[in-house]
Amino acid sequence: MLDSITSGKPEDPAFPHQDDALEYFVITFNLNGQSTTVGTEADTPLLWVLRDHLNLTGTKFGCGVAACGACTVHMNGTPLRSCVMPVSACAGQEITTIEGLRNGEQLHRIQQAWIDHQVPQCGYCQSGMIMAAAALLNNNPNPSDDDIASGITNICRCGTYPRVRAAMRELAATASDKN
Ligand code: FES
Ligand code: FES
Repeated sequence: MLDSITSGKPEDPAFPHQDDALEYFVITFNLNGQSTTVGTEADTPLLWVLRDHLNLTGTKFGCGVAACGACTVHMNGTPLRSCVMPVSACAGQEITTIEGLRNGEQLHRIQQAWIDHQVPQCGYCQSGMIMAAAALLNNNPNPSDDDIASGITNICRCGTYPRVRAAMRELAATASDKN
């Protein structure tokens, strides 16, 4: 952990405008299975490091105050709202984004269920919704509707909640078949 974050000027081409009055850090974490180093201010939210430094734009900005879930990623398998997570808190941790969910060219089974049930409408909230669903299913392979309601608190302006539940029921049934 100690060498996962160091104070100093980052040599990060994605972060060229640095202010001498501010303190910067070089932070290393595991992102989608790859060791990743970024240089930035320690309180920069993870969301903006993902989108602006690392060009992983699948994770979306919605509210910026941890209310909507559009920015949901995983830290060590636990869902978190990256818009309010300082990147310094990610040093040495395992971060997974929507880009890391699929296995090479093979869609994650949640992504396939989302397609089968035509869950996304405008699609804007769906990266976060899928990441929340993945974390829930990892902890509870056969969630009830109540579990889904309490485990996926993401907001969808298109009202896709019934389709989310339908896809989750199919995923739960598939998990039960394998038991
Ligand atoms: S953008 Fe992070 S919760 Fe809304
Ligand atoms: S699919 Fe449009 S906001 Fe959720």
